[in-house]
Amino acid sequence: MESPNRRRHRHPAGDGRGGAHIGQSPARHRQGPGALAAQVETWRLRHDTAAAFAVTGTPRALPADVDEAVLRACQEGLSNAARHAGAAQLGVTLSYMEDLVVLDIRDDGRGFTATVTGGFGLKAMRQRAHSLGGDVRVESSPGNGTAVSVSIPLTGVAL
Ligand SMILES: Nc1ncnc2c1ncn2[C@@H]1O[C@H](COP(=O)(O)OP(=O)(O)O)[C@@H](O)[C@H]1O
Ligand SMILES: [Mg+2]
Repeated sequence: MESPNRRRHRHPAGDGRGGAHIGQSPARHRQGPGALAAQVETWRLRHDTAAAFAVTGTPRALPADVDEAVLRACQEGLSNAARHAGAAQLGVTLSYMEDLVVLDIRDDGRGFTATVTGGFGLKAMRQRAHSLGGDVRVESSPGNGTAVSVSIPLTGVAL
């Protein structure tokens, strides 16, 4: 026989279990943009290269696998920019759209012929995006910098 007020007597902050709103807990919100901002800031300091992070749209909790795909794609993009680009500037944008999340990583470095990608990094990024119904677009040409765009649909996801 459960009193209607019983829930009020549980730990106010919750312990992360059994809550109906677990997907909206503050910790989940911090993962996306906060984690990306930290990655970009670390990259900026480590490589002494101008780097900015921006968010468009309203950040919201993403499914864990989407969060992880975005985080890893950012890691790989930053790693590539450091290893291959020789850029003077880098920009990362995370865009929350109604049924899509898009990560853009742009640099003004030396660029490359985007069709000739033998590396494992971009391939893995693409495979991960594909496995979530998304895609990776690479725009680059020698001398013209590089833009990598990772888009992952959120169709059918609650929130
Ligand atoms: N931001 C970038 N600027 C210039 N070249 C890049 C950039 N990102 C990727 N590339 C080119 O694409 C190739 C493939 O990248 P990737 O698949 O991540 O493999 P890896 O980094 O191990 O070489 C790189 O070797 C490099 O020639
Ligand atoms: Mg790489």
